[in-house]
Amino acid sequence: MSENIKMRVKENGSIRVTGTVDFVDADGNVLETKTDFSLCRCGASKEKPFCDGSHKAANFIAD
Ligand code: FES
Repeated sequence: MSENIKMRVKENGSIRVTGTVDFVDADGNVLETKTDFSLCRCGASKEKPFCDGSHKAANFIAD
């Protein structure tokens, strides 16, 4: 059964993903499965592609 994944763009912050997502490589192999996480969109995270909160110190402002 598939789940409806939600991605919410936060104002001047990350993209919050709610639900369970498989991360796969170019061959389709599952590398990791994560539930409820945030993706970085500011470029400052040391945990890319995930948000580590660095957008606050970077004073990230979305266009
Ligand atoms: S959006 Fe949070 S560290 Fe980039």
